[in-house]
Amino acid sequence: MNIRNIVPEQIERERLLPLREKIAGLSEMKSEEQFFLNGIVRAVKPKKSLELGVAAGGGSAIILNAIRDIDGATLHSVDYSERWYKDHRKRSGFVVGERFPDLYEKWNLYTGGVAARFCNDIGGGVDFCLIDTAHALPGEVLDFLMVCPLLREGAVVVLHDLCLHTWPRNRLRNEYASSLLFNALDDPKITIRAVDPPMLFPNIGAVRIEKHATEADYIDDLLRFLTFPWKYVPLPEEADEILRHFSKHYRSDQAEFLRRIFSFQRENDATRLKRRLNGIERFVRSTLVKPLRSLFERKSRDAG
Ligand SMILES: C[S@@+](CC[C@H](N)C(=O)[O-])C[C@H]1O[C@@H](n2cnc3c(N)ncnc32)[C@H](O)[C@@H]1O
Repeated sequence: MNIRNIVPEQIERERLLPLREKIAGLSEMKSEEQFFLNGIVRAVKPKKSLELGVAAGGGSAIILNAIRDIDGATLHSVDYSERWYKDHRKRSGFVVGERFPDLYEKWNLYTGGVAARFCNDIGGGVDFCLIDTAHALPGEVLDFLMVCPLLREGAVVVLHDLCLHTWPRNRLRNEYASSLLFNALDDPKITIRAVDPPMLFPNIGAVRIEKHATEADYIDDLLRFLTFPWKYVPLPEEADEILRHFSKHYRSDQAEFLRRIFSFQRENDATRLKRRLNGIERFVRSTLVKPLRSLFERKSRDAG
């Protein structure tokens, strides 16, 4: 399949129509992005799909609906959070169970950890992968590196939120992890043709992984991206899981490089926390302690 010759927004649009009402407000993709995702899956006809970042399960429902008539097809979905991040009373992925019980049998959902924890259970040979996770570093860059060993040659990877960093008034300026990743992958790629406001640029894209991804030159680029400031640092036990997984699947110098990045980012994080605490202490001293002290000093002077 030549990915550059397909127009995913147009492929079997009508297949998505009956589903759209049921996921309204529960899918984090805009209409044209949903059509893009549906079309790509219909073009690829994957036997084995993987999704990172489930939230309510709107994206899972779209993929499951697109593979419903493919014999033996399965979707494996991973979310870091056991609970839907917008309403903790609900479980991540609840939409599928509640609204599409007929799609459930092709679905395996893994929650409560990073992808590295579930890679053995998921196994290799993935034909299609959607990544839509944290958006800020390490985010999608690290997530892609984790699941890269599971992708077969020729697999298609879809990345969402490619231009969140251009959101109005700079509110999301640090949310550029998927964009960095998408730009670094030097395989054939396409982006959506339509732009849904308030987006100014195409916000979803697909790339066809040409050769076994762990051997690609861009792996070193992705590792270098991970030296930029991180918005969050995985917990020590998660870092151990990721590093163990990495040493199994990547060259030893690359695994060592990632280990150094983790200790650098942890150190940086600790320094930032210390700086923040110092800042709070300075603020408390100048706004509370100092004025109170001078008030007491004035009072005792007056009394004397
Ligand atoms: C933007 S939402 C996903 C939206 C969903 N794809 C859709 O189309 O409706 C991001 C989700 O990714 C999850 N997440 C964040 N970091 C993650 C990670 N490293 N691995 C797996 N899930 C992650 C969050 O818990 C959240 O549920």
